[in-house]
Amino acid sequence: PAVGRVFSGIQPTGVPHLGNYLGALESWVTLQDEYSSVLYSIVDLHSITQPQDPQLLRDNILDMAASLLACGIDPARAVLFQQSVVQEHAELCWILGCLTSLPRLRHLPQWKMKSKQKSEGSVGLYTYPVLQAADILLYKSTHVPVGEDQVQHLELAQNLARVFNTRYGPVFPQPRALLSSTQKVKSLRDPSSKMSKSDPQTLATIFLTDTPDDIVLKIRRAVTDFTSEVTFDPENRPGVANLVSLHAAVTGCTVDEVVGLSVGLDTGEYKGVVAEAVVERLRPIRTEIQRLRADRAYLHSVLEQGAETARCLATMVMEEVRKRVGF
Ligand code: ADP
Ligand code: NA
Repeated sequence: PAVGRVFSGIQPTGVPHLGNYLGALESWVTLQDEYSSVLYSIVDLHSITQPQDPQLLRDNILDMAASLLACGIDPARAVLFQQSVVQEHAELCWILGCLTSLPRLRHLPQWKMKSKQKSEGSVGLYTYPVLQAADILLYKSTHVPVGEDQVQHLELAQNLARVFNTRYGPVFPQPRALLSSTQKVKSLRDPSSKMSKSDPQTLATIFLTDTPDDIVLKIRRAVTDFTSEVTFDPENRPGVANLVSLHAAVTGCTVDEVVGLSVGLDTGEYKGVVAEAVVERLRPIRTEIQRLRADRAYLHSVLEQGAETARCLATMVMEEVRKRVGF
């Protein structure tokens, strides 16, 4: 494996959906073999930027842990931990926040999006990119897998590493983006938007715990069009193109290969083929999530062990940071 430290985080939103899996988690699994040090955090401090029910949050943290393990995150090769139990995240966030100007934050998409909404967000909602920067820099991370929508937030982390190093001396390496190459998975009901857990439309989102029947139904109801052949034309036929790229992603084939295999099928028949491929791909993951969910003691022990390692790394870096700052 390459020398480097990978860091990424995911909010404890419960069981991930197919978009999360194909767009992020699948590559998290691969990265375990590619880099010498890998940390994955269930970022619960980020979750509370919006109101959360405490018991639901606790359950969601365990569900996310079960899901990550079921997807192939291996505690022997990756440090899997809950963000809030490593208190240094909050401490470094404060220090970095003192190096962040408001205009710098206002340039971020998060700020722009939220300022368009009617209700005022919390301070935490606006400063969460600073917490993300702290998450990354706390471990002197060198590589950060991100979706395109997160690139500007990573730029803030890079910027804050430079600002800190300039003011206090060289502590942080520049974290580099590992850009996800996979197409965004689109909503099954509205292929102009991405698949999302918060999509209010029923049947739009496939979750990793969906039963084969759920998956077949959702794909059967997926929005397509009035042309019967299977082609890949995201511009003019976004619904069918979404099915094709899903099919390619879950089978590991190229888009051209799956289109080639689908010659002679109409889109209705093709939905059956795609559904079967998705069902088969998710079957072992779903089974494993169910098994792990029932073993809370094991989940707690994995998170405990991850927290210990993360804390140890974080303590060392913060000792250096605190000395540089003058504490
Ligand atoms: P959601 O949109 O459901 O709220 P998040 O924003 O929590 O999902 O995203 C978690 C991770 O999953 C991020 O790395 C994000 O880029 C990825 N992701 C989310 N939705 C999709 C999608 N539809 N297709 C591909 N990747 C996605
Ligand atoms: Na989101």
